Order: sequence, then structure tokens, then C-alpha cells
Amino acid sequence: MFGDLKGKVAIVTGGASGIGRGICLVLEQQGATVVSADLNLKGAEAVASEITERGGKAAGFEIDVTKRESVERVVAKVVRQWGQVDIMVNDAGVIGGAKWWERGDTNDDDWQHTFDVNVRGVVLATEAAADHMKKRRYGKVVNIASIAALRGGPEYPHYNASKAAVVSYTKSAAIRLAPFSINVNAICPGLLWTPMWEKILYRRTRHGLDESLRGLTERQVFERIVEMTVPLKREQTPEDIGNLTAFLVSEEAKNITGQAMIVDGGRTSV
Ligand SMILES: NC(=O)c1ccc[n+]([C@@H]2O[C@H](COP(=O)([O-])OP(=O)(O)OC[C@H]3O[C@@H](n4cnc5c(N)ncnc54)[C@H](O)[C@@H]3O)[C@@H](O)[C@H]2O)c1
Repeated sequence: MFGDLKGKVAIVTGGASGIGRGICLVLEQQGATVVSADLNLKGAEAVASEITERGGKAAGFEIDVTKRESVERVVAKVVRQWGQVDIMVNDAGVIGGAKWWERGDTNDDDWQHTFDVNVRGVVLATEAAADHMKKRRYGKVVNIASIAALRGGPEYPHYNASKAAVVSYTKSAAIRLAPFSINVNAICPGLLWTPMWEKILYRRTRHGLDESLRGLTERQVFERIVEMTVPLKREQTPEDIGNLTAFLVSEEAKNITGQAMIVDGGRTSV
């Protein structure tokens, strides 16, 4: 397979769950040492244990991407422990403020918290990693955006706008960091069955689900949405996103920067 990552050290924010966990597992399969960093320390440590139990090198660290000191502390800790940070994957993300899934509509807290984590968090972690990477004139940053960056929708305007900001920031960061041979790209995943989508459907089944979907379980509704909207008729998986991440951080992708790549089974091509 492409992308030999032996000797590389990666930090994956949001690495405790869903897509972030999948990215950690694929990067390790490619030979990288992986730090799963998350607000949820127990989850981050569980992913690290999964990796070390199969013979890989990993650690689970606590991080709050909305706090500069927290992000800088993690980068410094990784440099102390492994000597370098080659890869920063900014996956940590939210779709609303506290208990957003219990409410029928977006409020100020949704806008504030979603931009704090999804946008400011990506900027802080990129800057902290880049400060270190610049000295080595080498580095790879991958930001997990969403197809929500590319489309409108009535339910989560704050989320869509935050992901559009991630795509925009990716382009600016790529230009700012190009003189230091640091590549910055984004990935726009489509539909993945993770705790995030479980909550989206929890909310939808309580606040305004389409008549035709009433009586179905949340997982059945998800499958129906995939069937109705994805040309390839399959959901995407954390491993799909991990595979593209592994490619983007590999030597084979050294001339790709400032791009937002879509992994959605054709959904946004319709
Ligand atoms: N699931 C999908 O269909 C989908 C589609 C497109 C994009 N995405 C994006 O992929 C990323 C991962 O989503 P997921 O579906 O795996 O969701 P998830 O809820 O399973 O995982 C998100 C992780 O981010 C962590 N996190 C939240 N706030 C944090 C903070 N302040 N600091 C550090 N960690 C924090 C959470 O603890 C959690 O482990 C998100 O950026 C999301 O927007 C998801």
C-alpha cells in the first residue's frame, strides 16, 4: 500500500471516537506512532491501548482544542516523548453546544461552541504543530471538514458555516506554510455512522422527522438516507477517511496542498 509512515509521529485530535479513531488505526497500520488526543481522555487511552496491544506505538492524551495552552502542552509533550511531530490531524469536531440534540432549533451557544471547536480548534492546533514543524521544514496537516462545507441546509447553519471556514482556512494555511515545506489539506467526509450521526437522528426523530420515516429506528433512518442520497448506495467509514489521510500525509502526495477532497460516495456530485 502507498504511504509508508514508519518513523513518523502523528497527533490525531478527536482520536477517541468515530472518524478520529479510524484515522488513528490506519495511520498506525502504515507504521506511524500515533497520539490519540481528545477531550475524552478515557476514550483516547482506549484507542491507544487497542494499538499497543497489537504491537504498535501509541499514547492517549487529553486535549481541549479550544484552549491554546492545552494544544501547545500536547505538542510539547509529544516532542519530549518522541522527538518530533510530523503529522497533525485536526478531527475534533462538534455539531452544536451543550445538549443540542435535545433542542429543536439552533441557538447562540450552538454558533459559539461549534465555531470554537471546529474553526478556532483547527487554527490553534495547526499553529501549535506548525511552530514545531517550521523548524524542521517538514510537516503534514489534515483538517477534517465535511461535505456540509459545500452545501446549505436548514438544520445546522452554524455547522455548515464552520466547515466552510475550515476549507477556507486550509487554503490560507497551505499558502502560509508552503515556504516551510508543510502541506495542509482538508477532507470532506459524507455520511458516517458515528456518535455524531446517532445524535443527529435522535434529534430528528423527536423534532420533525419526515412522515415516511416514522416508526423506523435511528440506524434504519440512517440507512434510508444513505439509500436515497448516496449514488454508490453505501455509507462511508472511518477507515475510508483514514486511508485518504494516510495518502495525504505520505511522500506520494508531496505536491498536494490547499485542497479539500471529498469522500462521499458521489453525494455532492448529484
Ligand atoms: N459522522 C459524519 O458523518 C461526519 C461527516 C463529515 C464530517 N464529520 C466530521 O468528522 C469529525 C469527527 O466526527 P465523528 O462523526 O467521528 O464524531 P464523534 O462525536 O464520534 O467524534 C468527535 C470527537 O471530538 C472530540 N471533541 C469534541 N470537542 C473537543 C474539544 N474541544 N477538544 C478535543 N476533542 C474534542 C469528542 O470528544 C469526540 O471524541 C468532526 O470534525 C465532524 O464534524 C463527520
